[in-house]
Amino acid sequence: MKSRTISELLSQDIVFPEVEIKGWVRTFRANRFIALNDGSSLNNIQCVVDFESFDENLLKRVTTGAAVHVKGTLVESQGKGQKVEIQVSDISILGDSDPETYPIQPKKHSFEFLRENAHLRTRTNTFSAVMRLRSALSFAIHKYFNENGFYYMHTPIITGSDAEGAGEMFKVSNLDAKNPPLTNEGSIDYSKDFFGKETNLTVSGQLEAETYAMSLGKVYTFGPTFRAENSNTSRHLAEFWMIEPEVAFMDLAGNMDLAEGFMKSVIKYVLENNREDLEFLDKRLQDEDKTKPQAERNEMTLIEKLNFVTDNHFKRVSYTEAIDILRNCKPNKKKKFKYLINEWGTDLQSEHERFLVEKHFKCPVILFDYPANIKAFYMRLNEDGKTVRAMDILFPGIGEIVGGAQREERLDVLKQKMAAINIPEEDLWWYLDLRKFGTAVHSGFGLGFERLVMFATGMSNIRDVIPFPRTPQNAEF
Ligand code: 4AD
Ligand code: MG
Repeated sequence: MKSRTISELLSQDIVFPEVEIKGWVRTFRANRFIALNDGSSLNNIQCVVDFESFDENLLKRVTTGAAVHVKGTLVESQGKGQKVEIQVSDISILGDSDPETYPIQPKKHSFEFLRENAHLRTRTNTFSAVMRLRSALSFAIHKYFNENGFYYMHTPIITGSDAEGAGEMFKVSNLDAKNPPLTNEGSIDYSKDFFGKETNLTVSGQLEAETYAMSLGKVYTFGPTFRAENSNTSRHLAEFWMIEPEVAFMDLAGNMDLAEGFMKSVIKYVLENNREDLEFLDKRLQDEDKTKPQAERNEMTLIEKLNFVTDNHFKRVSYTEAIDILRNCKPNKKKKFKYLINEWGTDLQSEHERFLVEKHFKCPVILFDYPANIKAFYMRLNEDGKTVRAMDILFPGIGEIVGGAQREERLDVLKQKMAAINIPEEDLWWYLDLRKFGTAVHSGFGLGFERLVMFATGMSNIRDVIPFPRTPQNAEF
């Protein structure tokens, strides 16, 4: 007999009632009801044991967390909320779990506690639902690009370039600690750390993706990226996954259309395919809301919010318009912004972004045409000489979820911009080559994958949507 998953058993009619299943025990009540989960579904399957037919010592080993192999007959369930259950004929213990020391007890644990037990936290409903959604979203992303003529490109993890020019890089080193290369002054020469060259972990695959866009036309990356920023916020990780499409012959308006269509498509995918997990997480948020004062409660349920994004246009607003709104608004009856926006040219803080999305426009917003001095060197300078063709997409509850731009395709302008911030031409000679040989308008963007997972699951801390979060405090697992 083939072992089946709980998801299969729950979704089919009882055709072959003799079944066997393997999973981990969630609870064992009254020496009679085993709630078993195997990760294939949010739902447990109830396994009903006639305790008189089993050895007492065997049943003692059916404890929370134990791995078991159950054989029996699938029957319609009399219990509430479950279609079928298994009348158990045979149980074997595959792996014991000491109830005294097993960290995941059948009770509500705090997310902080579960973060410390990241290796076991997917044995809870919340984290298994989040990680199933994470998997579904990755699939939806590949599906979207595949169906729209994009090639998937793998960009290097170890690289010599600082794509964002922000200097937030982790160095990669194979220096011989006992016998390191030395500078003329006698100190360790870190510029020789990677077989004689200076390298770091990538902050973005964009520059490399541009090279492929300028030959294959439409490409995207989906890989890990690293930022050595010491940001201890609920939206920053030192290692996060980024999706970066890059398209030749596409301008900023096309980039906005692509980003909006893409975001809607992947969210729609999980609304259609992951309903059970979404409904579970939605209920969790609604229960949490009940413990909060009215003013702090969510205005929409999770599923309403996801539907809202797929059904409504993203509002497109220039940086200059946004600054006017922020200068003239009253964010709150009592409180002003922590950082006041006084002049044109100031970068927006997340409080401003969230005000625009959540209070002012009340829908996703695409901000574009930012001041050149607060954006990366590769962005296309506008004819006004002071703004660039940048775009950020802001989402409710998240703030910036996407950052992108039309790229500077003019060799002379790009060289000037690099010189202004001291990027040597030798460092990016290959990037400049794209402007020398068959240059063309092209654009792309980067979506922070974990921020998308946060949005789709309603989780409020980015550490809870990636299996093993890397933050300045945490790299244990
Ligand atoms: O805005 P960023 O820095 O843009 C780039 O890296 C461009 N090269 C992308 C491109 O045009 N191809 O990052 C893009 C997105 C942000 O909007 C945010 O969602 C996410 O990546 N992000 C982070 N997510 C988690 N932790 C961090 N430390 C993040 N930094 C950026
Ligand atoms: Mg950004």
